[in-house]
Amino acid sequence: MSQQSEGIVGLLRFFGLQKKPSELHRANMGVVPSLSGMRQEPMLAAARRPDRLVAPSRAFTPTQPRHGRRQLVGRQPELTRILQALQEDCAHVVLYAERGRGKTSLTNMVVETLRQSDVVVARHTCDADSNFDSILRGLMRDLPSSLLAVPDGGADTEGCEHALPNRELRPGDVCALPSRLLCNSLVCVIDEFDRVLAPATRTRIADAIKQLSDRDVGLRFLIVGVSENLDQILGQHPSIQRNVVGVHLPLFSDQDVAALMAKGARETGFTFMPTAVARVVELARGMPYMAQLLALRLAQATAQRDDTLVSDADFDTAVAGLLADANPRVLVLFSELTANGQDREMLAALRHVATAGQDAWGRLSVLPAEQGGVSIGGYFVSSNCWARLQAAQVLQPYGICSGLYVFAERNLMHHVLLHAAAHEAPQVALRAEAITILPTLSLHSFASRA
Ligand SMILES: Nc1ncnc2c1ncn2[C@@H]1O[C@H](COP(=O)(O)OP(=O)(O)OP(=O)(O)O)[C@@H](O)[C@H]1O
Ligand SMILES: [Mg+2]
Repeated sequence: MSQQSEGIVGLLRFFGLQKKPSELHRANMGVVPSLSGMRQEPMLAAARRPDRLVAPSRAFTPTQPRHGRRQLVGRQPELTRILQALQEDCAHVVLYAERGRGKTSLTNMVVETLRQSDVVVARHTCDADSNFDSILRGLMRDLPSSLLAVPDGGADTEGCEHALPNRELRPGDVCALPSRLLCNSLVCVIDEFDRVLAPATRTRIADAIKQLSDRDVGLRFLIVGVSENLDQILGQHPSIQRNVVGVHLPLFSDQDVAALMAKGARETGFTFMPTAVARVVELARGMPYMAQLLALRLAQATAQRDDTLVSDADFDTAVAGLLADANPRVLVLFSELTANGQDREMLAALRHVATAGQDAWGRLSVLPAEQGGVSIGGYFVSSNCWARLQAAQVLQPYGICSGLYVFAERNLMHHVLLHAAAHEAPQVALRAEAITILPTLSLHSFASRA
């Protein structure tokens, strides 16, 4: 099937498929459900139907990183950059972004791709107690002992831990690892590196990177963590700057959010009308976690009505449920700032900040405006509201004097948007525009992924 017809089929399914749960059940039993009542060309629909439909909670997974290339949306440029750095540039990589932006999901895809090209990959996830010793031993324990060049002779060690000396580890010890393992190329993936509290551990990892680079050893690190910049996660080590590639993971594009919903619709047999997709795009603001959560709650609300066609009422149910489940810290902050939703000026200011134009990394441009106020992404915020937003540390400056700010607590931004969705009339004009561009967007997404 050509790329374009793939795209058209995906698009038709996206906007036209509707099945009742009874049909869902039959599909799960391996019986092809009736195609009657569908608005699209039946042959095209049948060609794209997955063998089995899955429950919404299997397709939309807000609490779990994605595994496998087929489960992931977007991220091709970042995947290419990371693989190129590790394999061609012989560099180490630091992948960083705020929480929930998809670092572990992308890392899973990197690991899968590396393993397919016979690179040995060891993984370790840090916690607050992690130190240099526990990280390296954790990485080696992740490898099967069959990779040991010299078998451990029944020593009381796990996996390839025997490849490490039986004493407190030093940065130089990593250089000997490849020679003690039956592999030409080893990539060590360290996730949640931001959780490491001890600065000495960061320094030791940086020293290890320096020694590996100086001696041209076939071992690369992929370090993953929550951070706004490279220095924050690894510390400032000028000596390793040339050897480390920083990859700052961007937000999803609107196309990615729409593609995520289209993929879930295909997998579950649910139908998201263009209005629902447009509203999720608006609320998610590029956050993969939020897109997954909203799509799941929408599908669940629809399933509760024993239907598979998502309606506007389902959207309201999903929004009400998410507001009720809001993080208590965010609720307190929102209530304090808005005097329990009564302060109209602050509500409007928050709404402006939450919908202001942002760049691919969620940064907002803040410019001085008249009467001591500011212009945030094109919206005017009064000096009074700006002072209160700053006092409450709602936004934090990005870098020094850049004029860019990020939400200190992105959940507050989503809460503001959910609150507005529940209490204000929908922005009809904006949604109408989003709806008209969405068909093009999902067509593009399908075509580019085919
Ligand atoms: N490329 C993607 N395609 C589809 N879903 C994604 C993608 N990236 C992330 N997600 C979804 O977003 C959510 C967060 O993803 P993930 O756990 O990978 O983020 P993270 O940055 O590692 O988060 P944390 O900082 O909490 O470790 C998960 O629900 C995951 O399913
Ligand atoms: Mg993660």
